[in-house]
Amino acid sequence: MTHISDRTKNLGTETAFDVLAEVNRLVAKGKEVVSFCIGQPDFDTPDNIKYAAINAITRGKTGYTASAGILTLRKAIAKHLSNSRKIPVNPDSVVVANGAKPFIMHTIVSVTDYGKGDEVLYPNPGFPIYEAQILAQGAIPVPLFLLEKKGFGFDINDLKRKVNEKTRLLILNSPQNPTGSVLSRMELEQIADIVSEYDNLWIYSDEVYSNLFYAGKFQSIASISNMQEKTIIVDGLSKTYAMTGWRLGYASNKKLAPYLTRWVTNTTSCAAHPTQYAALEAITGSQKKSEKMMQTFKTRRNLIVDGLNQIEGITCLTPGGAFYVWPNVTKACEIVGAENSEEFRKRLLYEAGVAVLADIHFGQQVEGEGQHIRLSYATSTDNIKEGLRRIADYINNYRK
Ligand SMILES: Cc1ncc(COP(=O)(O)O)c(C=O)c1O
Repeated sequence: MTHISDRTKNLGTETAFDVLAEVNRLVAKGKEVVSFCIGQPDFDTPDNIKYAAINAITRGKTGYTASAGILTLRKAIAKHLSNSRKIPVNPDSVVVANGAKPFIMHTIVSVTDYGKGDEVLYPNPGFPIYEAQILAQGAIPVPLFLLEKKGFGFDINDLKRKVNEKTRLLILNSPQNPTGSVLSRMELEQIADIVSEYDNLWIYSDEVYSNLFYAGKFQSIASISNMQEKTIIVDGLSKTYAMTGWRLGYASNKKLAPYLTRWVTNTTSCAAHPTQYAALEAITGSQKKSEKMMQTFKTRRNLIVDGLNQIEGITCLTPGGAFYVWPNVTKACEIVGAENSEEFRKRLLYEAGVAVLADIHFGQQVEGEGQHIRLSYATSTDNIKEGLRRIADYINNYRK
């Protein structure tokens, strides 16, 4: 009998994709659904970037590249990181891959040993691949619970309690998926104070939403003194330039870069050659289109937060970044008689024609925090207005 390994059978996933399939099945049957599910910009990739890729293909840039990526791109990324994070970044410390996502696995596997009791701290609720990969690579997942009263940051004392000599990696994600929360300079400094006491502890700073930052200027923990050395900065082009399907992300850390490169050699060999030229244009070319997208997201954020707060039973904090809101729907669940956020999500989908994700798609529910759902506002203002109207009507019907 052929065998499937336990670690594969138990491999976690982005359950959001299951919801997406559920939504698509309903749409195929003719149901009209307003979707707030997808975590990708609803814009097209800017033309200058597309043409750079077409140009690269016609110039024969179609073979393998060095696993770390073409030097011109790594130089451009190093310059961009130096300017935006205010730290010196050398191109040799930059590695390019097929999206930011592969670096989650590449980093965990590079800094923890399988089954040795190495611990990894990560945000909960959070991007589900963190936990999936911590477990798949034989490390121990230690969640840091994000709290509504902290603006969906974690309690710094919780970090103090949980970090120890076995902790190998702390995963940070600001702006955050799914809550949209951002870490302030003060919080980053408090975190730095704690982790600097542990020599054998890395920080994975997932900064894929760094350009979607609405509350002043984006801050990276790598820019705090002595932190760059232990921080793996990870960013990508998916969210900033509407390039999710192009698959291009990058990581930067001097010591880890050769090891991450070796993991790229062992897995995908290199990022797609023409895509690397598209990325070069994205980073070095005009930023006007990208800036306009960011402005649009900010307008939509204000619209959706205001709209949600006007709906009976829903309260929503204003997120500082990304394109997600994470409203508290505990009272709304009570009004419609839904047992929890997942039942509420299903009812919204099947009965109101609105697709959202529930908190259980982003880790275990946090005790005492009530029920939450995630809405992505990477969709048109018309859709946002229509979706909010449907949610409000659905809840109001129960009040009558
Ligand atoms: C927090 C976070 N990290 C990483 C990724 C993956 O990004 P990429 O498309 O660059 O692989 C996502 C995508 O949704 C994300 O939300």
